[in-house]
Amino acid sequence: ASAVREELRLRYRFIDLRRPKMYHNLLTRHKTMRAVQNFLDKDGFLFVETPILCKSTPEGARDYLVPSRVHPGSFYALPQSPQIFKQLLMVGGLDKYYQVARCFRDEDLRSDRQPEFTQVDLEMSFADQEDILELLEELFSQVTNEITGAEIARPFQRLTWLEAMDLYGSDKPDLRFGLPITDVTREASAGTFAVFNDAAAAGGVIRAITVPGGAAITRADIDALTDKAVSYGAKGMAWIIIRPDGSINSILPKYYSEEAYARLIEKLGAAPNDFILFSADKPAVVRRVLGLLRLDLAGLFKLRSREYKFVIVTDFPQFEYSEDEGRYVATHHPFTMPYPEDMEYLKTQPERVRAQAYDVVLNGVELGSGSVRIHDSRVQREMFEALGFSEAEVEERFGFMVNAFKYGAPPHAGFGFGFDRFVMLLLGADSLREVIAFPKARDASCPMTGAPSPVSAEQLAALNLTESAAVPKQSAAKMDVENISHLARLYLAKDEKQRYERDMADIIAFADRLSEIDTTGAPGDYLMPLKNVFRQDVPAQSFSRDALLANAPDTEGGWLAVPRVISDK
Ligand code: AMO
Repeated sequence: ASAVREELRLRYRFIDLRRPKMYHNLLTRHKTMRAVQNFLDKDGFLFVETPILCKSTPEGARDYLVPSRVHPGSFYALPQSPQIFKQLLMVGGLDKYYQVARCFRDEDLRSDRQPEFTQVDLEMSFADQEDILELLEELFSQVTNEITGAEIARPFQRLTWLEAMDLYGSDKPDLRFGLPITDVTREASAGTFAVFNDAAAAGGVIRAITVPGGAAITRADIDALTDKAVSYGAKGMAWIIIRPDGSINSILPKYYSEEAYARLIEKLGAAPNDFILFSADKPAVVRRVLGLLRLDLAGLFKLRSREYKFVIVTDFPQFEYSEDEGRYVATHHPFTMPYPEDMEYLKTQPERVRAQAYDVVLNGVELGSGSVRIHDSRVQREMFEALGFSEAEVEERFGFMVNAFKYGAPPHAGFGFGFDRFVMLLLGADSLREVIAFPKARDASCPMTGAPSPVSAEQLAALNLTESAAVPKQSAAKMDVENISHLARLYLAKDEKQRYERDMADIIAFADRLSEIDTTGAPGDYLMPLKNVFRQDVPAQSFSRDALLANAPDTEGGWLAVPRVISDK
């Protein structure tokens, strides 16, 4: 029902906008934009606009493409961010740049993701990480105070990526409440509880969250949390309730000696009236499971306050392994500078390399990211190599940038934050749709205007696109191929999938063309028009046998050697 309501609201957005709440939201957006621009203007930042029709940028999402009429077969990409341009502005001598930039990313939508969104994007020459972070603290605390009246404590809390992941199971921790994660691998594997001992023996970890005052939790809530834990990838969820009188409700104590159990409870910092839950598995699984359960616990115990809790997360890993692509990809983007002391591991132990990259997080939502950039074309080349780009690919995709850097680039660093997200959080709204006048629906369509929509054959022809290239069945083909591969439990590599999708789309397009034929007349009237192609049959010069066999691995006296298995039969 809520999806229908949402669809209706978007279809009649002009009426929806009449609600005082929507007006208030747009007014707040306007005031916030003015406050941000005033701040940056006073600080000497110059507003520069960069192109919307550009070459593909490397933010990692899928590009929206625009076909070129003048250059048939070539496409512009809409910018995922102005990243490359702002770095070139630094080469161009503009010290302090900012822009309110529309960005486009063709990715799956969520409540905090829209296919087109607004970024406040900035870059500074001769700046390092601290310069940028100081500027951001000032900007965010001042603007938040101006718009909401809330006093924002400075300095913002800081965590390294590793600390955030280990303590809160997330690189965007919500710190409006505590509930840190405690590692109890040693203490919890000191008993005879097989689940814990097996996980520890397999090189895994055992971690727990203690909820102070959580002992009143009901059995139904524990069951619901367990189901969630399983849906997040856990095999189960062990727990302890320490009743107010100190007595224990849990299966765990019987597996431990009295001393070992006491050591476990001490490590957890647990006391009477607390609830504790555990996860034991590989570190990545435990981080994810406890990170998500921590948010569920905050909901269950109503721990989220109405405050603005900014956190700065630093020292992100330079690379992350992409299972999809079977290689390391840049966690932030390929222009991010690693810490100098980690450079030596670039090719040998990429997972060890830390980036000079930082995020600003507000109430558990990633507000923005930035980094110190590589400003040396040699280091940039090494980075591209480490990312597995071939020389030719680098030349094709980023040649102009590497070239520009040869003319001397100042050290520079920057940041970009989601303006829609910022306004959403300032208002305490739960979706970007509440702060964008004409947002897209969940399937990236606009229910009001009907975009995206098919275009006329003339428009396609002008762009040199055939109708089958624009066939709307493409997505059906994708779904079908995925369904079939899923049902058949058949693994399809990415390129195979794309090939089958194309084939399937061709078949569907052909079936569509057949169905358009008017079959009401006499049989034979409705044959599809056939175009005969005549060509002169000139036999081509054939190769000599020797030339054909020249590259065969093993030939002897004009014979081709084949393995014995075959020749014996
Ligand atoms: P990044 O890709 O992290 O960094 O994006 C910066 C911020 O933009 C917002 N954002 C979005 N908001 C709404 N819908 C989306 N689909 C969406 N995608 C991203 C988020 C995010 O934190 N060029 C770099 C910045 C830099 O290095 O200077 C960049 O774009 O709030």
